[in-house]
Amino acid sequence: MAHADGSGDGVRHFTRLDDFTPQQIEDLLDLARRLKHKPARPDLAGRSVGMLFFRPSLRTRSSFEAAMNQLGGRTIALAAASDFWDLEVREGRVMDGKAPEHIRDAAAVLSSYVSALAVRPPVEGQSWEVDRQDAHIRAWARYAKVPVINMESALWHPLQGLADLMTLREHVGSLRGKRLTLAWVHSPQPASAAVAHSLLFAAALAGMHIRVAHPAGYELDEGVLTDVRRVAGTTGAELEQQEELESAVEGAHVVYARSWQSLGDYDNATLSASRRARFKDWRIDERLMARGDDARLMHAMPIRRNVEVTDEVLDGPRSLVHLQAENRLHSAKALLTMLLRH
Ligand code: CP
Repeated sequence: MAHADGSGDGVRHFTRLDDFTPQQIEDLLDLARRLKHKPARPDLAGRSVGMLFFRPSLRTRSSFEAAMNQLGGRTIALAAASDFWDLEVREGRVMDGKAPEHIRDAAAVLSSYVSALAVRPPVEGQSWEVDRQDAHIRAWARYAKVPVINMESALWHPLQGLADLMTLREHVGSLRGKRLTLAWVHSPQPASAAVAHSLLFAAALAGMHIRVAHPAGYELDEGVLTDVRRVAGTTGAELEQQEELESAVEGAHVVYARSWQSLGDYDNATLSASRRARFKDWRIDERLMARGDDARLMHAMPIRRNVEVTDEVLDGPRSLVHLQAENRLHSAKALLTMLLRH
């Protein structure tokens, strides 16, 4: 699918959920469900996916590798820290700095070796205004001649959004009008907001009633919230935000716990740490979960036990967390099949 910025050149990418139409997302989820219950034919024999990691991963890397193996294909996984080097993303630079190669060249070359490129791009962490542009993953999509899959940029984590929708469908049933609370939780090392953004987009697509609860200063990206409200306007979804955790989980069918960094303090580690330290009691425990409507717990992982969520909830019958992680495999198989089969 060609992108608004002219990238893609007719190649279908998956860099954010709205690279696919709502019907294509439905088709992906159907295929993922079928592949989960019936082993796939190894349709992708002879195909390879190049995986580039500029940041570490446990689930995304291993689920993709397992998915390609099960589909009869191969992966070539490279980590920037050990296997290659910084890549320049800016146009027209005199490249006399740290990066010895431009994404334009790397993408052209790798496109001649593999059938798709999956990238977990770097996040500079200096300015949210800069990082939210997702320049790195957009450059891969612009220059690659094969499909590009976003394995979590600063703004979006569409693979997680897909697995989350699959898990919600399996365990909550029809999602229209169901109440999902996205609860910010404390962590000494908060994650990026990408999972939260893709979850909101996915839940809006499904017509859910969404509450986002976070302390003051942890507002999500305004551009993403505008996109989510636009989708909600077409599906009947609702989006509320509040700064109080207990009331936000009242009547929830699903509590989705996630820690994310304050976008307001993004460039100031000291301010960010002192703000975070004031909210150590933002943790999910059984008392809180009991306020929901037979509420289920979701979390994208990695998860800090007894900091973000207590052992009792995480290991108890409400938790979908490991099933959700398993669905990364099935949804990855569906995506790879759709992108690479023909
Ligand atoms: N949820 C997720 O993307 O996990 P990893 O960072 O381990 O890939």
